[in-house]
Amino acid sequence: TRSLRSSKFPTIYANTLIRVERQPTSSVCVLDPKDAAVPAPCRQSLPSQTQSLYSIPGPTNWPLFGSLIELLRKGGLQRQHDALIDYHKKFGKIFRMKLGSFESVHIGAPCLLEALYRKESVYPQRLEIKPWKAYRDFRDEAYGLLILEGKDWQRVRSAFQQKLMKPTEVAKLDGKINQVLADFVSRIGQVTVNGRFEDLYFELNKWSMETICLVLYDKRFGLLHDNVNEEAMTFIMSIKTVSVPVRLFLLSLAKVYIDKKIKRHAEVTGPSDDFLYDIYRHSHLSKKELYAAITELQIGGVETTANSLLWAIFNLSRNPCAQGKLLQEIREVLPANQTPSAEHLQRMPYLKACLKESMRLSPSVPFTSRTLDKDTVLGDYSIPKGTVLMINSHALGANEEYFEHSSLFMPERWLRESCTINPFAHVPFGIGKRMCIGRRLAELQLQLALCWVVRDYEVVATDVEPVDAIHSGLLVPNRELPVAFIRR
Ligand code: HEM
Repeated sequence: TRSLRSSKFPTIYANTLIRVERQPTSSVCVLDPKDAAVPAPCRQSLPSQTQSLYSIPGPTNWPLFGSLIELLRKGGLQRQHDALIDYHKKFGKIFRMKLGSFESVHIGAPCLLEALYRKESVYPQRLEIKPWKAYRDFRDEAYGLLILEGKDWQRVRSAFQQKLMKPTEVAKLDGKINQVLADFVSRIGQVTVNGRFEDLYFELNKWSMETICLVLYDKRFGLLHDNVNEEAMTFIMSIKTVSVPVRLFLLSLAKVYIDKKIKRHAEVTGPSDDFLYDIYRHSHLSKKELYAAITELQIGGVETTANSLLWAIFNLSRNPCAQGKLLQEIREVLPANQTPSAEHLQRMPYLKACLKESMRLSPSVPFTSRTLDKDTVLGDYSIPKGTVLMINSHALGANEEYFEHSSLFMPERWLRESCTINPFAHVPFGIGKRMCIGRRLAELQLQLALCWVVRDYEVVATDVEPVDAIHSGLLVPNRELPVAFIRR
């Protein structure tokens, strides 16, 4: 697991930032009780009533270092997600922090997220990742969705939007996802010893890489087989170690398979039902743009999905009652020996609730960012253009104000008839126009995976000692997960 702690999806979320201790800001969102069951409206102050950026409270901002030393004392960058929870408890829904020279404003309240969403600009921006851009420029390569900005971002985004975000389009991918899951589930029986994988996270990364490659290139690489060919081996090494330049490898892969696709389809007339070729034909993206976009879909999609399944397996192992209920639902909806489909999932609310709850309690991505491209009023504060905002989704999910008994795994909280969970309190895929474009694909992959695994195996905890999450680009467990798969 440790070997996978590379930041393959690193800089969507950045590090952080500043200062002066003031009063908590919990009063920023004042809710009328009658509105409590609907998404919380934020009190919108008139510009004359708003306070400036400098009035936002935050940890002490020391010269030169800002709050870096304090953060290091709290466990360093690896524990920054926990430090952010502490700071929200101390300062309230919004705080300001400076780490070295990097300053940012942190938001951790549904009403502030909603206010940001409502005022979102046409081309929302995340924190700029200068080294990535410099590297691409140096190699004369295009940018993908993770780092593109402005009109170019929108053009590439709309090329993929329909195929990846439209539920009926994504549902068509269930057959491919199931093909890989059949291999994964039989591998559990073959390579585990006493029900345990040597490195579960690595196996899940191979599963997720194999799936995304099948979706994008319509090709099996055989990453889940024991006897793998050279190409698959290079692939596996690129997942396993950081020494192989992963991105370079993925880019060359994208080039080879996209070129093949375009060549093959160009010779065939008539309509095609091919993911890549359809995008190429309808979007007017250049080949160079397509290479970069596909590479970044892989960078964004492989480890995040594997990581979310890892935590879901862990949470189910620690909550046998929930796992029992889930198994019952799966057995009721899915006839014996039948493969689960996207259609079956429509009748599995408990399955969806388990996944949501796991992503709330153990999110893969603890925060994302926005760089404001105009002055924006959020709650009581007027925040100037250029400010970096951190959207602390992990802190939101851990907040008792929005999730009672927040440290417990309770899928039922999502199913109550009187469910009052504010949609802006649960944003594991980000918000607005720039939210994760792979969201629906990831959800389908994860829901089907849970169906297969839980139907065939009981997932048991092999010890009850705590497992902590550490920040390493994503939130990863601090030790090999104590879980075993017992054939039902
Ligand atoms: C459970 C799995 C996943 C999680 C938790 C996740 C999470 C996220 C988050 C938090 C963001 C930032 C959104 C924002 O700033 O508002 C993001 C962006 C992105 N994700 Fe995912 N993601 C997952 C799976 C995927 C998959 C499967 C793909 C590819 C098919 C993907 C591709 C991307 C891309 C390209 C972006 C940038 C989108 C843009 O800026 O337009 N992600 N993801």
